[in-house]
Amino acid sequence: MKHTVQITIDGKTTDLPVLEATAGLDVVDVRSLISQGVYTYDPGFLSTAACDSTITYIDGDAGILTYCGYPIEQLADHSEHLEVCYLLLHSELPTAAQLHQFKSDITDRMPVDPQFAQIFNGFTQTSHPMSMLCAAVAGLASLFHEGLDIYNPDHRLESAMQLIAKIPTLAAMSYRKSIGATFVDPDPALGYAENFLNMCFGETGRASQVSPTLAHALDKIFILHADHEQNASTSTVRLAGSTEANPYAAIAAGIAALWGPSHGGANEAVLDMLNEIGDLSRVGEYVDKAKDKEDPFKLMGFGHRVYKNFDPRATVMQASCQAVLAEQGVEEEPLLKVASALEKIAREEAYFIDRKLYPNIDFYSGITLKAMGIPTPMYTALFALGRMPGWIAHWSEMLSSPFKIGRPRQLYLGPVKRDYVPMDQR
Ligand code: CMC
Repeated sequence: MKHTVQITIDGKTTDLPVLEATAGLDVVDVRSLISQGVYTYDPGFLSTAACDSTITYIDGDAGILTYCGYPIEQLADHSEHLEVCYLLLHSELPTAAQLHQFKSDITDRMPVDPQFAQIFNGFTQTSHPMSMLCAAVAGLASLFHEGLDIYNPDHRLESAMQLIAKIPTLAAMSYRKSIGATFVDPDPALGYAENFLNMCFGETGRASQVSPTLAHALDKIFILHADHEQNASTSTVRLAGSTEANPYAAIAAGIAALWGPSHGGANEAVLDMLNEIGDLSRVGEYVDKAKDKEDPFKLMGFGHRVYKNFDPRATVMQASCQAVLAEQGVEEEPLLKVASALEKIAREEAYFIDRKLYPNIDFYSGITLKAMGIPTPMYTALFALGRMPGWIAHWSEMLSSPFKIGRPRQLYLGPVKRDYVPMDQR
C-alpha cells in the first residue's frame, strides 16, 4: 500500500501523504501544496475529497450505497424512515425503546407556531413550493437562534430533531398554500409519511384517508433519499455551516442547491420532459435531441456523477414504482408508456451505453410520485424532506471535530492591473 505520492514543482520534489479510506479510494493530502506556491485545480470537484466522513459510502462502479455500513437495499426493505434518521444522526441503529422515544420526540416537534405560519401569507398562490420551503426553513432560524450553541452536541441534536420534525409540516403548508387551501395540522397518531400525506390531502380533525400502500411507498422514497455523501446540496450545507452560520440557515442553503434540475429538481424535470414529449411517436426525436451536442437538451433522470453502472436507489425505486402503479391501476397511463419507451431506447443506444448513462433515482421517483397523485411542483420538496437527516448529520459531523471555513481558491484568468478610464474617454 502506498503511503505517499511525490510531486515535483520547479525541480523541487515534495512527498504528499496518502490518507487511507476504510473503503473506496485513498486520498492524496494536498494541503501542504500552498507552501510550494501552487493550488490544485478541480472545477466541479471531480477528483477532490473536501472532507472525511463516516456516514455514507458509495461505490459508483459497483452500484453500492450504504448508510453507516448498512446497504440501502436492506434499509429500504426492513427499516422505516425515522429509524434511518436515527441511524444517520447517531451512527447506530436504535433499540426499540430508543426508536419509540425518537418517534415521540419528532411527533412532539411537528406543529408549527401559528404566528410563524403567517410567513406563508407573504407568498402568492403561484409561488413554487421549493421557494416557500426554502424561505420557511431559513425563517426557523428566527425561532431558534438566541442561545443556540452549535458546538454543544445536545443543541445540535435538538436542531436535527426540529428540522426532521418540521420539514413535513412546512412542505405540506407550501403545498396547501399553492392550492389556496387552509393548513392541516399534524396528527400525532400518524406515522411520518402518512402524516405528511394527510397534511397535504386530509382535513384537520378528520381521520386519515391515506392508503397504507402509498404511505409505505413514500416512506421508502424518503429512505432512498436520506443521504448521498458529498452531493451538491450536502456540500452546500457543509460550506454554509463552516462559517458557523445558524443551522436552519445552512439547511436552507442546501434546499436552494437541491432545487436545480441537475440535482433534486430532476424529479420534477422528468415529468416536465415526459409531458413535453407527450406521445410515443416523439420519443425518438427527443433521444436524438439528447445526443445532439449542439442542443442543450438532456434526458432528465439519466446519468449520475458517481454511479457509472447503475444507481442502486433506482433499482429499489423501480420495484416500488411497479407496486404503486398496480395499486393505483395506472399502468396504462400514456406518460408512463413514454417513460418506459425512453428507458428502453436509452438502455440500448450506444450514446448512452458508452457514457454510462442509466436511469437514476429521479427517473423512477418522478414516475412513482405522478402515479401517487402528488402534484409535480411538490416533487423536489419531497426530495428535500427525505434528504433532511443527511444534511443535518453532515453538518453535525463537521462541527463535532476541528474544521476550517470552506474557502476554495481560483485560477485567475482576468486582466492584470489596468487603470480606471473616465466615462468620457470610453
Ligand atoms: N442526457 C444526455 N447526455 C448526457 C446526460 C443526459 N441526461 N447526462 C450526461 N450526458 C452526457 C454529457 O453531455 C457528456 O457527454 P460528452 O462526454 O460527449 O461531452 C457525458 O454524458 C458525461 O456527462 P457529464 O455532464 O460530464 O456528467 P456529470 O457527472 O458532470 O453530470 C449529471 C451528471 C447528473 C448532472 C448529468 O448526467 C445530468 O445532467 N443528468 C440529467 C439530470 C438528472 O437526472 N439529475 C439527477 C441526478 S440523480 C439525483 C441526485 O443525486 O441529485
